[in-house]
Amino acid sequence: ISRQLGARSIVLVGLMGAGKSTVGRRLAQTLKLPFRDADHEIEAAAGMTIPDIFSIHGEEHFRDGERRVIARLLQEGPMVLATGGGAFMNEDTRANIAESGISVWLKADLDVLMRRVRKRDTRPLLRNPDPEGTMRRLMELRYPVYALADLTIDSHEAPHDRVVADIIKALGGWFDKEKQGSAE
Ligand code: S3P
Repeated sequence: ISRQLGARSIVLVGLMGAGKSTVGRRLAQTLKLPFRDADHEIEAAAGMTIPDIFSIHGEEHFRDGERRVIARLLQEGPMVLATGGGAFMNEDTRANIAESGISVWLKADLDVLMRRVRKRDTRPLLRNPDPEGTMRRLMELRYPVYALADLTIDSHEAPHDRVVADIIKALGGWFDKEKQGSAE
């Protein structure tokens, strides 16, 4: 798989709690690729946490930084890149990813997402009295866009290693199709 990837990165997209960071790290280990987490990179570049960026500078400022950080990371060569849940909603970011990466949507059920996000209070979008309602609305709004990703993988609650194995299998199929396409 690493050889077929060439200079392309594997870019994980999907909602908060879909497992992008955890699965991404393991996928990178398995494929012997570097792993980068866009949220961490944004925090490092800004010198502050994501909740602070949101509350001090606002969401728009965060989205702008997010777009630039992802564009820079994608130029750094093949890696597994976990993006924040809103990143793929940006058209420029989608175009950048399409150019130098393969996008993988980690899709999970509402209850799985909620169970995972409850463990860490680091998401400004969910700091309200009805985080589950917010998550539902985000599902409605974002799923049609996430569906544009090259691959969709069910990020069930099973061991993360199984999700990693599912991604690798799907990537294999994707490369086979790509080969057929270029032979036609
Ligand atoms: C966001 C998701 C977060 C982070 C920010 C906004 C979103 O990343 O980028 O809080 O809009 O869905 P995770 O998906 O890694 O939690």
